[in-house]
Amino acid sequence: MKIGNLVGLVGWRGMVGSVLMDRMQSEGDFDHIEPVFFSTSNAGGQAPTQAKNETTLKDAFDIAALRKCDIIISAQGGDYTTEVYPKLRAAGWTGHWIDAASTLRMKDDAIIVLDPVNLPVIQKALAQGGKNWIGGNCTVSCMLMGVGALHKAGLVEWMTSMTYQAASGGGAQHMRELLTQFGTLSAEVKSLLDDPKSAILEIDRLVLAKQQALSPAETANFGVPLGGSLIPWIDKDLGVGKQSDEPGWGTSREEWKGGAETNKILGQGLAFGTAETPVDGLCVRVGAMRCHSQALTFKLRKNVPSADVEALLAADNPWVKVIPNTREASLQGLTPVAVTGTLDIAVGRIRKLAMGPEYVGAFTIGDQLLWGAAEPLRRMLRILLAQ
Ligand code: HSE
Repeated sequence: MKIGNLVGLVGWRGMVGSVLMDRMQSEGDFDHIEPVFFSTSNAGGQAPTQAKNETTLKDAFDIAALRKCDIIISAQGGDYTTEVYPKLRAAGWTGHWIDAASTLRMKDDAIIVLDPVNLPVIQKALAQGGKNWIGGNCTVSCMLMGVGALHKAGLVEWMTSMTYQAASGGGAQHMRELLTQFGTLSAEVKSLLDDPKSAILEIDRLVLAKQQALSPAETANFGVPLGGSLIPWIDKDLGVGKQSDEPGWGTSREEWKGGAETNKILGQGLAFGTAETPVDGLCVRVGAMRCHSQALTFKLRKNVPSADVEALLAADNPWVKVIPNTREASLQGLTPVAVTGTLDIAVGRIRKLAMGPEYVGAFTIGDQLLWGAAEPLRRMLRILLAQ
């Protein structure tokens, strides 16, 4: 049955929401919908220029107003989903819910949407009456956009992902904090930096002293300095209360998502009656702005030549950009600076590792606000509208 085109937008002003609006505008999505803009703080205000008939902002907590929508897209965050979604369903709403938050992601009736990778999973759920379409964790989505082909070909026995995650994964305030710290540290040693004859170890000593002296206000978002440092723990500790060596002990929630979401996106694991592919690794925050990078190790089921691995990845979807494994190409094309703001998913450093011919290393980078957040949502909207 054709799905109506009255689409409620919630959280469109935040960082992910703004990227989503930009992408929807660029792709002409508003030509296909009647948008209704909701706000958690400014109901009654002026809706943005994309509004057609509904030019006034509606209250994002008004269940009756939300209920009128055929489709709701939320980039408002998990707390909003937790509060509003159950009330909407309890009120009998049978529309389609598209969401960027993790709240509903692992529920049995939710599909993690990443259509270039799992369109068959989405189509099957649609045919079965699915109504909840949730964007994946940014790290997982960017990784699968880059190397999903190897998984889909059944070549991966296991995979590790060691991440280098950008400040934006924490939110807008985290990006500001990182940049402010860079500025503070640079200012601390400005006169020494300006003097080419000054001693680098003196500069280093002063930078460290400043990092260690940053106030709680200067580290309010990350908790510790990130500028000139890194943080090898992202999100909650899932091991609390567990014994050392019990499954999950010492695992961060971000690391758990790597395995759980990868398998769910690919439509494999217990819930699908098939074996899971083990995917695990350590997640680390670094001082990049909005690109998540990952160093991957694959144990393949057989020896596949590196050139064939590259060809398989390059042919998988139009956004994968295989970067030749040379120093020059890596420096030019395989960095957050090269990838940020584009829909490219760069994959490079593809080479056999010393452990044996089935062990392949790779490095992948994606903009976590695009494929990692906004893009799968707007594409799911288009899939629904095309039904
Ligand atoms: N959890 C991710 C991060 C953000 O902290 O980088 C988006 O899924």
